[in-house]
Amino acid sequence: MPAGAKLDAFAKAPADAPGIAKATVGRPRRRAVATTVGDRFFRDMVASMRNGVLAVTRDGGVAVINDEAYRIFGLTPDAGDIGRPYADVLRVHPDMVRVIASTFELSHLPNRVELRLKSTGRVIGYTLAHIRDETGEVAGAALFFKDLTRVEQLEERERLRDRLAALGEMAAAMAHELKNPLAGIEAMAGLLRRKVSGSPDAQSILKDIINEAKMANSTVVEMLDYVRPVRLERGRTALGPVLQTAVSMAESKAQRGEVGVEVAIPDDLPPIQGDEHQLCQVFTNLLINAFEALGGAGTVRISTTTGVMEGEHAPQGSLAGETPVHVPTVVIQIADDGPGIPPELTDRVFNAFFTTKAQGSGLGLAIVRKIIDAHDGRIDVTTAPGLGTTFTVTLPVCADEWFQ
Ligand SMILES: Nc1ncnc2c1ncn2[C@@H]1O[C@H](COP(=O)(O)OP(=O)(O)OP(=O)(O)O)[C@@H](O)[C@H]1O
Ligand SMILES: [Mg+2]
Repeated sequence: MPAGAKLDAFAKAPADAPGIAKATVGRPRRRAVATTVGDRFFRDMVASMRNGVLAVTRDGGVAVINDEAYRIFGLTPDAGDIGRPYADVLRVHPDMVRVIASTFELSHLPNRVELRLKSTGRVIGYTLAHIRDETGEVAGAALFFKDLTRVEQLEERERLRDRLAALGEMAAAMAHELKNPLAGIEAMAGLLRRKVSGSPDAQSILKDIINEAKMANSTVVEMLDYVRPVRLERGRTALGPVLQTAVSMAESKAQRGEVGVEVAIPDDLPPIQGDEHQLCQVFTNLLINAFEALGGAGTVRISTTTGVMEGEHAPQGSLAGETPVHVPTVVIQIADDGPGIPPELTDRVFNAFFTTKAQGSGLGLAIVRKIIDAHDGRIDVTTAPGLGTTFTVTLPVCADEWFQ
């Protein structure tokens, strides 16, 4: 649908409809200008705005809604929405409906507020305004808003980088200090084991010591991996073979048991500019988690598609951050039909050292996120107890790869 379609519907609304009265008619002195130039110009302006615009009349009908608003709300543009109750049009966003409803009860409206839409997780920054008619009566309300989800993600990434920079040095130094004594314990316990070959009890204790030292050592190695700044060795990377290697690596590190692995990767999946080894680590960690969650029975599905995401780089010459560029992407999903993650834990799974496993270090997903961040990609998780877990990795495709 063309950008202006729903605004055309709006323009066909009665000229005295409260939601448009002020904007199109204005004060009597300006009326002639507003109705000859104003209608068309007004519609084009609202349709072209990079902000979401939603205006509602006092009686609760939608007067204006532009394409950007539909996009941010995740709704399909429909000219028939004009005149419909906003509570109906926005029924999937009850939090937004409440905000708009409250507008008519407030005399002073907040200027800039951030809200996370519960249903989609998107973060919006909005400003509310009363629309007043010539007599000063509130005839409606207008909501101007911007999608801040990407900004939030970038800020979160910055915060993570800062935290890591501060923690990194100390943790790296500690990890180095621990690595040598641990290797020493393991080696000396091995020697001792040979000396007490006649005592099964001592043998078994020493075996435990060696295993514990090995585990502590692998935690230290993972910690070093985590705190070390990611340096990518990028190259043209076909994700099909990377995913196949990751399956074998995961099998060698975790018990796959009877778990079925289904891989669906189209032949024409575009290659990306990525670090093959580090991406392999990403998918290996995700697959290990899936195998561990399934406990030997179930199915893991690996699938890939292409998509588009908003990039952070504005073209040269434009204001940074003003122009969202749309970057082609490859989307990889790793889905298991295991127990899922309890809702209260979902937000924490990417935190370093968060684990629910007796033997886990809780660094697997933290490392995954760091590597994906370094590729300017993103990772999302959808999960429901009893229904399984899906990790979705989105990686940008270099433009020249895409058009080859
Ligand atoms: N596919 C999954 N299904 C269910 N829970 C999962 C899944 N993937 C991750 N989790 C949860 O997220 C937590 C963190 O995962 P993460 O990989 O970071 O650490 P870990 O697996 O516990 O330890 P390790 O550092 O050895 O990987 C897990 O302990 C588990 O509770
Ligand atoms: Mg793990």
